[in-house]
Formats: sequence, C-alpha cells, structure tokens
Amino acid sequence: MACSTVSVASAPSSTLCKRSHSLSLFRRHRTHLQHKQTKKKSSNQSQKICKNFGVQALAGKEPLRIMISGAPASGKGTQCELIVAKYGLTHISAGDLLRAEVAAGTDAGNKAQEYMQEGKLVPNEIVVMMVKNALLQAVDQSGGWLLDGYPRSLSQAEALDALGIRPQLFILLDVPDEILVQRSVGRRYDPVTGKIYHLMYAPPETPEIAARLTQRLDDTEEKVKLRLQTHEANVAAVIGSYKDVIKHVDGNRPKAEVFAEIDKLLLELQEGETEEVGATIA
Ligand code: AP5
Repeated sequence: MACSTVSVASAPSSTLCKRSHSLSLFRRHRTHLQHKQTKKKSSNQSQKICKNFGVQALAGKEPLRIMISGAPASGKGTQCELIVAKYGLTHISAGDLLRAEVAAGTDAGNKAQEYMQEGKLVPNEIVVMMVKNALLQAVDQSGGWLLDGYPRSLSQAEALDALGIRPQLFILLDVPDEILVQRSVGRRYDPVTGKIYHLMYAPPETPEIAARLTQRLDDTEEKVKLRLQTHEANVAAVIGSYKDVIKHVDGNRPKAEVFAEIDKLLLELQEGETEEVGATIA
C-alpha cells in the first residue's frame, strides 16, 4: 500500500488550518499550489516514505477506500491521524482543503470563508471540484483514500457516484451534542506539527507547544451550534447514500478506544471480511 499525500498536506500554516499529523510531515516539501503539479510517485517511492516515517505499510493488501463522517468535533481529524499513521492512506479532508484555499487568499477561498464563518456548507461549485481533484490524485497515486467530511449532502454523494467513487466503509462517529460543543471550544492546533489538541482532553505535552497553539475561528460556542444545525439538516441524506457500507462508531469514548474499533473494521476489510459491515446500519 502506498503512502501519499495531497493538498491537505501542503496547505500553508494558519490559525485556520488543521491537518493530519503524518501529512504535516510532508508540508515543508510542498506549497499549497504545488499539489496541482505533483508528479505521480511510484508505489515503491511511496512505500519508502512510509517506512521513513514509521508507518506500518501493509504490503500486498488492497488499498482501502474509506469515508469518515460525523458532527463537528466528533473526532474525525483525530481518528484520521491514527488511521493514516497505521495504514498510510491518503487523507483528504474537505475542511482542510477549504481552509488551505482561505489561507492562500484565492477567490474560491474568499467565497468559501463567508460560508464557513456562518457554519454553512460551502457551495458545491467550490467544494465538489476541489475534492474531486484530490480524490483522483489519490487514486492515481495509491488507489487508497480516507475521505474526511465529504460528502455532506445528497448532491455531493451523487457527484461522487457519477465518478464511480464509492467507499468500502462509511464510518459515522456518534457523539452527543453537549460533548461536541465542549470539544470544539477547547480544541487547539499546533501549527508546527499539525497535531490536534484539546485543552482538557488532550493537553499539549510541553509549555513550548502550549505557547504556539492556535484556535480555529469557527470554534466558538455560537459557531459550533450553527455547524451542528447544518450537520443535522444534511446527515440523513448522506447516510441514505451509503446504507450498504455504513458503520456507526461510538465516538464518546477515549480516542484510543474509538480507534481500536475503527482499526478492527479496517483489518476486517483488508482480510476480506466485509460482509458484516452493513449489518449494523442505522
Ligand atoms: P471541517 O473542518 O470538516 O469541520 P467539522 O466537520 O465541523 O469537523 P471538525 O474539524 O470541527 O471536527 P473533527 O470531527 O475533525 O474533530 P477533531 O478530531 O478535530 O469543516 C469546516 C467547515 O468547512 C464546515 O463548517 C463547512 O463550512 C465547510 N465544509 C467542510 N466540508 C464541506 C463539504 N463537504 N461541503 C461544504 N462545505 C464543507 O476533534 C475535536 C476536538 O475534540 C479536539 O480538540 C480533539 O482533541 C478532541 N477529541 C477528539 N476525539 C476525542 C475523544 N475521543 N475524546 C475526547 N476528546 C476528543
């Protein structure tokens, strides 16, 4: 399995940005726009990169195609860090892609920011092409991908279907609303490593790290509530599109426990034991 990265890893450092830790390791090598020109890597090269960063590359296994979804602050990014570290999948986060555009000051980014500040979905004319390009790049590079926060509406799911892109597994993290608000307002990012922290649940390891942490502009209680409303208005339609592969995971547990369940599902998929995945559909 190859380990690769797309524009998420290349986003400029910003208070708006989050990104998977493993992807951030590549950040210094690429700028935001470079991903569009990124040359195709051979899977051997990618394996080498994985090894260098301690990823447990699972040689000879089918590349995984995974979607992870859930309400704001349900732990998607946190779990993606762990999944990427073990499985070396290409992590594509719609939120990260959008924040990268915002930070780069592009026309699309400026328009997207208006919607993000309101906790609304960014219009498809901006987000669909962005994610499509990242996905096609991932397929081209490694075949495997981990799609985070996309699709978030029926029309986005339909756009993927039109491209013939479907996941083997759709993970939905379930967390009660009151916990989601606490998680959002306490969330912080390390702009150097890209690691996600929480002031109470996952505090920084050293005073030096604590001093450089940043907060997302949409992580206020007021904005989180708006984002929750948007999520609730759309989630049913998205779930309906992936009934055959959806798996609910209780995200209101320590992150290692949540990951243990996800890890088990992914291992089962790799071993071809996928028949049961759809059995616990909501
Ligand atoms: P996006 O960035 O995707 O935001 P989100 O969906 O609101 O999710 P978050 O990034 O806030 O949370 P997360 O689930 O990754 O949680 P995390 O792991 O960080 O999207 C932002 C905006 O972009 C949207 O509002 C929208 O405007 C736009 N957008 C995005 N996708 C779009 C699309 N497809 N179409 C249109 N517009 C789109 O964890 C949160 C905190 O909790 C952290 O502090 C963490 O340390 C802590 N934590 C995590 N897990 C645990 C645990 N198990 N126990 C205790 N604490 C935990």
